[in-house]
Amino acid sequence: MRILVTGCAGFIGFSLTSKLLRNFPKSKIFGIDNFDKYYSPELKRRRKNILIKNKNFFFKKIDLNDQKILEKFITKFKPEIIFNLAAQAGVRYSLVNPRKYVNTNINGFFNLCEVAKKIRVKKIFYASSSSVYGESSLFPLKETYSIKPKNIYGLSKKINEEMAEIYSINSKIKFIGLRFFTVYGPWGRPDMMIQKYIFNSFKNKKFELFNYGNHTRDFTYIEDVTNILVKLIKKKISKHEIFNICSSKPIHLKNVIGKLNKYLKRSRIVNKPLQKADIKKTHGSNKKITKYLKYNNFYSFDYGIKKTFDWCKNYFKKKL
Ligand SMILES: NC(=O)c1ccc[n+]([C@@H]2O[C@H](COP(=O)([O-])OP(=O)(O)OC[C@H]3O[C@@H](n4cnc5c(N)ncnc54)[C@H](O)[C@@H]3O)[C@@H](O)[C@H]2O)c1
Repeated sequence: MRILVTGCAGFIGFSLTSKLLRNFPKSKIFGIDNFDKYYSPELKRRRKNILIKNKNFFFKKIDLNDQKILEKFITKFKPEIIFNLAAQAGVRYSLVNPRKYVNTNINGFFNLCEVAKKIRVKKIFYASSSSVYGESSLFPLKETYSIKPKNIYGLSKKINEEMAEIYSINSKIKFIGLRFFTVYGPWGRPDMMIQKYIFNSFKNKKFELFNYGNHTRDFTYIEDVTNILVKLIKKKISKHEIFNICSSKPIHLKNVIGKLNKYLKRSRIVNKPLQKADIKKTHGSNKKITKYLKYNNFYSFDYGIKKTFDWCKNYFKKKL
């Protein structure tokens, strides 16, 4: 197989690419990333440096917005499958710099679809998000529910889903939309709650807890995410399918903090009111994906949090 992973230096892109290289040793994996400065480019380069040690991995620094360079690269390597995991992520930052979401998430995805159509890519897996649901009161959230994003980030993902639907009708490409719910684990994003709380504690820095900790999140362990994606590659797909990718076990943030405090020597929490872009609760139904793949063996949160803490400790001590 020839697979392209965009955003391969990002958290999910790196974790998936590592697994693809392990599970499909005869495949060629191509990765692109622009080492965007939204969070530590150094962390992204460290992830990329691990990947390039494998002889079946080929990397190029490319921005999804550089349409000509993107087209040249993809046309040369002719992938059969694309995972679009490059994006401007993060909900809160979409209040600060909405243009980046439009450029990368909407225009970037459009550029990718156009090239994919030209070279007749078979399948495109693309990252959507639980953010498409917006503020809801009906849980667990099902793929069939109507979606009403609350911020530009969620809107950019909704537009991705609509764009995929149109391309799935106007081309032979099959599209698989992945509505990820708060993914965490080793090599995770430093702007997200768990990693941020741990690193702030190591650095003896304050941690701002929004909505006084009264958020609930459907935390999903990275190994479950990559297991699901690898299984999906082999499945037959109709024109366009969308799946919630979640553990379906929501946890209150105060509970998460309690669990993390067992590992940490100190924490300096500063309680803050609700942030405008934040959703109070996420809780997805994973019935569709678990039935489709017969995947039910999700990692426990206690296991995931221990693995994440151990990784953070080693990363902080520069042992990785
Ligand atoms: N991590 C989560 O909990 C979560 C939840 C819901 C949805 N998602 C979505 O999943 C995808 C992957 O998320 P992640 O957590 O790995 O994020 P990430 O920020 O770690 O990875 C995204 C990668 O894309 C790269 N990138 C950004 N703009 C680019 C551009 N214009 N051209 C090329 N590369 C670019 C970044 O440098 C980064 O390495 C994103 O679409 C994100 O919105 C993630």
